[in-house]
Amino acid sequence: MVDAAIQHDVLVVGAGLAGMRAAVAAREAGVDTAIISKVHPMRSHSGAAQGGINAAVAKDDSWENHWFDTVKGSDYLADQDAAEILTRLAPDNIRELEHQGCLFSRWQDGRIATRPFGGAGFPRTCFVADITGHVILQTVYEQVLKNGVTVYEEFFVVSLIVEDNVCRGVITLDMSTGKLSAVRAKAVVFATGGSGRVFYKSTNSLISTGDGVAIAYRAGAPVEDMEFIQFHPTTLASNGVLITEGARGEGAYLLNSEGDRFMFKYAPTKGELASRDVVSRAEWTEILEGRGVNGCVLLDLRHLCEARIQERLPQIRELAIDFAGCDPVNAPVPIKPGAHYTMGGIRVDKTCASTVQGFFAAGECSAVSVHGANRLGGNSILETVVFGKIAGVSAAQYAREHDYASFPSSALPDQESRRNALFQTTGKEKVAVLRDAMQAVMNEHFHIFRNEAQMAAGVNKVRQLRERFANVAINDHSMVFNTALTEAFELDAMLDLAEIIALGALARKESRGAHARIDYKDRDDANWLKHTVITRSPEGPKLSYAPVTMGKFQPMERVY
Ligand code: FUM
Repeated sequence: MVDAAIQHDVLVVGAGLAGMRAAVAAREAGVDTAIISKVHPMRSHSGAAQGGINAAVAKDDSWENHWFDTVKGSDYLADQDAAEILTRLAPDNIRELEHQGCLFSRWQDGRIATRPFGGAGFPRTCFVADITGHVILQTVYEQVLKNGVTVYEEFFVVSLIVEDNVCRGVITLDMSTGKLSAVRAKAVVFATGGSGRVFYKSTNSLISTGDGVAIAYRAGAPVEDMEFIQFHPTTLASNGVLITEGARGEGAYLLNSEGDRFMFKYAPTKGELASRDVVSRAEWTEILEGRGVNGCVLLDLRHLCEARIQERLPQIRELAIDFAGCDPVNAPVPIKPGAHYTMGGIRVDKTCASTVQGFFAAGECSAVSVHGANRLGGNSILETVVFGKIAGVSAAQYAREHDYASFPSSALPDQESRRNALFQTTGKEKVAVLRDAMQAVMNEHFHIFRNEAQMAAGVNKVRQLRERFANVAINDHSMVFNTALTEAFELDAMLDLAEIIALGALARKESRGAHARIDYKDRDDANWLKHTVITRSPEGPKLSYAPVTMGKFQPMERVY
């Protein structure tokens, strides 16, 4: 048994909104709680969320309508009991954030303002101009500080310690010293965010490399529905930076090269405010059929006028000027769909518990599952606060009922050997080259429209990259902030996830939500209304399927 120097009742990995909300909830429940994060909490990717957070706070709206929109948006793959929790608890979570000091944008009469978002039957997205995630992150970080949660920042978790299906803690790399250490915990919560960087030019921060999902998978936790990758309809062509759906919520148009507002051809009622999978497919069809503008379509905000753009969308104006060289006040912005969100993740139940005892997950790294095959814009930050809190409460309760479990003696030496192997190899492969190749393969073979031959070829290419990874050499052997080493760990994780995404997609012979196959164009509820579950086995990823929790909403044709 290893005598870990550091131990905490509840250990949260990840300091984005889900992680910090979980930590605050656990601390409030009276247990010793710490967060480990590879970046300072305020640099977490939640801070990049722009357009808003959904909640039925308006007088004429109802959480039941939000529930229905979420299930319909998911193409009926969401677990309806989980989606009920999300939407029922949303208004109280908004009020709680407001009482904690979150400065939501407001109507003239002082009520919290809401804007329309895609796939929603009512304008129910609360917002802070177009910096909503940043402001909520500040609010929740203040609660972390106020409640005395310990924060280990710039610590990179490299493995989850599980023995006899009981989680015992993690092995972590102190990035400032290069030292690997064991950290014991009675309960561990992963809130490690998304895997967007598996794809090329994602909206995600460079840190969104899916480490947590891969680490959990390697430790024996099943992952669910990873083939469903959301391509956000409006990202900048130059670098994939997000231009919020809030722009369309405020009234912006999508135009093709002929100047047509083409969305009504694809979504006769909702137009630009159809759900994201529908809008991204429409844009891509326009581009494929020759009505694009240099591989993009145009987002036109000019009719909103400068005062409104400046009040509601100041950040995206700046982003468009800086990265597209175009001021939306005067010119339409060229945009295209870009990888944005991982609908799947670590399979957890409604209490955020995984199948590994003492191991919980929340936020984008988890599949609880409220997003199913397609997430509605504005439901992501909502999920982080609602299920972050639930995860924290669940973990605290588990920690109160269990003692520290013994730590296997091989846990730390195994990770030291893994690091040393990366230092000692004489191979010639470079992390950056393999990462670029992986991202190109994923964009080419698992993009918005998919088919059998293309995906089967993609699986082979991902596997070849995994073989090449065995020859990766790291020339920098220093111990202080060795980013070459952490990038190698990140690539190792992303290659696992690329294979899981690819296999899940290849196996699912239907089109549902973000998984659109040109060889199986229709949704097939008779055979495929089920979750993909992938578990690690000695032979490689093992696929199985699990039922979707249905409820009062029966699957219908999904039109917008
Ligand atoms: O478009 C956006 O502002 C993104 C929001 C989201 O992904 O929920």
